Amino acid sequence: MSLPRRPKTVLAPLAGFTDAPFRKLCSELGAELVYTEMASAAGLAHGSVPTRFLLSVLPGESPAVAQIFGSNEDDVAAAAREIDAMKRFCAIDLNSGCPMPRIRQEGSGSALLEDPEKIGRLLKAIKAETSLPVTLKTRPGPRPARNVMLEIVAAAQEAGVSGITLHARYASRGHSGPADLDLLARCVQAAKVPVTGNGGVVDRASFDAMAQTGVAAVMVGRAALDRPEIFRELSAEPGEEPPPPLSARERFDRHVALMKVFAEQLAHEFPDARVPSADTCIVMRFRTHLFRYFAGMDGAARMRRDMNSFATADDVFAAVSALRPSRVSGNRE
Ligand SMILES: Cc1cc2nc3c(=O)[nH]c(=O)nc-3n(C[C@H](O)[C@H](O)[C@H](O)COP(=O)(O)O)c2cc1C
Repeated sequence: MSLPRRPKTVLAPLAGFTDAPFRKLCSELGAELVYTEMASAAGLAHGSVPTRFLLSVLPGESPAVAQIFGSNEDDVAAAAREIDAMKRFCAIDLNSGCPMPRIRQEGSGSALLEDPEKIGRLLKAIKAETSLPVTLKTRPGPRPARNVMLEIVAAAQEAGVSGITLHARYASRGHSGPADLDLLARCVQAAKVPVTGNGGVVDRASFDAMAQTGVAAVMVGRAALDRPEIFRELSAEPGEEPPPPLSARERFDRHVALMKVFAEQLAHEFPDARVPSADTCIVMRFRTHLFRYFAGMDGAARMRRDMNSFATADDVFAAVSALRPSRVSGNRE
């Protein structure tokens, strides 16, 4: 009897984090599929260059899905045309789960959960403009009293999607609380297309629990921000010794190296635009990544406090060099 196949490991779209350097880092560490940060369909439709930065890809990333958010068929269609022409993505994904007020106010993200038919219309508009597979990332509904999961699955399938990701928390819960694996299993049973599960996977045990629902893939969000090497651990075969964790310093050094390459690539790709320098990328991006990588080390709390005053990459490197391993947390430098 053959064993059920291990679900694929997927890096979630995380606005502010999953840029090309971070996606490549996770790819090197075993993520089998990666998502861009959500990009505004209206921004793409109206030629916004900073929005296009989000859709730049580094050579060597695992297959990458371009995620868009939008609430208007013309915009998502125009965005789909743009992305199709880039010839660098393996699929286009529509976000119908983001609970941020800024996104909801424009009728996008989780606001779409109020109207499953509209989700279907937006997906059809995207499908009409691309030969790439089109997918949907969604939630079971806006709140527990309004579960629209099966309506969404039906509308998405009718529009011709190739897959559905279910973040198994209602939008009203934001990103907190446990994911509802029973709902996820119902979604897998109801859907004719592969379902990717998402929510609360932080280690092998939570990955295995989600795999039991029958999902084709498991998407990991915040746990990858702390430990991108989680993908290596999740893809180890049963009984296989997982590779040792990376030290915080190893993670940091590789991430910095990839950021430098990416800054050069952006300058090359957008010669007429004001492209952030490697220094700016390192200062800006590590304001969000640094404290996660070095959490628990002696001096990490002070570094977190000082982070907003970092002006150059050298400030970042000096702060990191001042950190010391903590005997309490065991986080290695
Ligand atoms: C900082 C942050 C940014 C996020 N950005 C996006 C996004 O751009 N697109 C999206 O579909 N979901 C986004 N999400 C939701 C995640 O993709 C994921 O669904 C959520 O974090 C649950 O997975 P987790 O429990 O493994 O973190 C974001 C979540 C966080 C915490």
